[in-house]
Amino acid sequence: MPRYSRIIGTGSYLPQRIVTNAELETRIDTTDAWITERTGIRQRHVAADDEFTVDLAEAASRRALEAAGLDKVDLIVVATTTPDRVFPSTACLLQSRLDIHGGPAFDVQAVCAGFMYALSIADHYIKAGTANTALVLGAETFSRIIDWTDRNTCVLFGDGAGAVVLKADNTPGILSTHLHADGDYANCLHVPHGVSNNLASVLAGTAFVEMSGREVFKVAVQKLGELVDEALVANGLERSDIDFLVPHQANIRIITATARKLGLPMERVVLTVAEHGNTSAASIPLALDVAARRGDFGNGDRLLLEGFGGGFTWGGALVEWRE
Ligand code: UT7
Repeated sequence: MPRYSRIIGTGSYLPQRIVTNAELETRIDTTDAWITERTGIRQRHVAADDEFTVDLAEAASRRALEAAGLDKVDLIVVATTTPDRVFPSTACLLQSRLDIHGGPAFDVQAVCAGFMYALSIADHYIKAGTANTALVLGAETFSRIIDWTDRNTCVLFGDGAGAVVLKADNTPGILSTHLHADGDYANCLHVPHGVSNNLASVLAGTAFVEMSGREVFKVAVQKLGELVDEALVANGLERSDIDFLVPHQANIRIITATARKLGLPMERVVLTVAEHGNTSAASIPLALDVAARRGDFGNGDRLLLEGFGGGFTWGGALVEWRE
């Protein structure tokens, strides 16, 4: 009997506070027109000072577990760039909050492609028979590593969390996952300091995201285009076999380029970039949950999930949706 993992529940959470482009206009040298035209973003959610990544993760997890009809899972994988503590992992903090004990729980760090990495790992655990159920998240308080006076980056990012529950099944489910990285691009999109390198900057709260936007844009479009071909070839499918694109929500122009590569009309592309901005690892499961709860997907629809981010890292998954 073949063994697959199936998505049996989704959930998400966004912090209450919304920062609009109009508010940013009052703080930095930018305009709503520039942000909207160049990125598609109109607003982003920002966590309260006393709200942490694990809080967002817990709220998203509870919704996903409720949708799945489960209160326990064998495995927890959290993709995050903005953990609450150096250690233990956000996944361990989350495990305790959810009153789940004993099974493996760990964080994955692949920035905006983090959810694709986490999903791929959990899928492999399930396919191998090591776990029967898994809770997989992308959760970020990315606003904490943003310089809110730097117009090159601060208009782009937001906070949030998205979660899926996976379960082993004999029918797909997740058809394939595809992960890539190229560390030669490390300096194109990074926070240049960390625990081992200039901890003082981290402690002073001055370790911020730096990005060569044009370079990231160019490589993202190229690599995500290649990923489309890779996922189709791996499954013996044509472009017309894909029903929905669920992309990382960094920039509407990157998303449009990938949709064009797939030959998909934009009404078949899940878009949350206008309302959420770029929530890094959280953006794909957030978009998936929004579309799933809206009832966009039908039984057997094929979804291509994809993301690109710092590292560079990029990855995707081809998923057959089951109701
Ligand atoms: O999730 C991780 C992956 N990250 C991404 O995918 C981001 C990829 N990159 C991008 O999305 C785009 O490159 C940006 C949205 C970041 C920038 O858009 P762009 O069309 O590449 O603009 P640019 O960087 O070439 O800048 C064009 C102009 C510059 O002015 P000059 O030099 O032409 O006079 C910038 O200084 O726009 C200026 N600019 C702004 N103006 C108003 C940059 N940021 C802003 C701003 N408001 N917020």
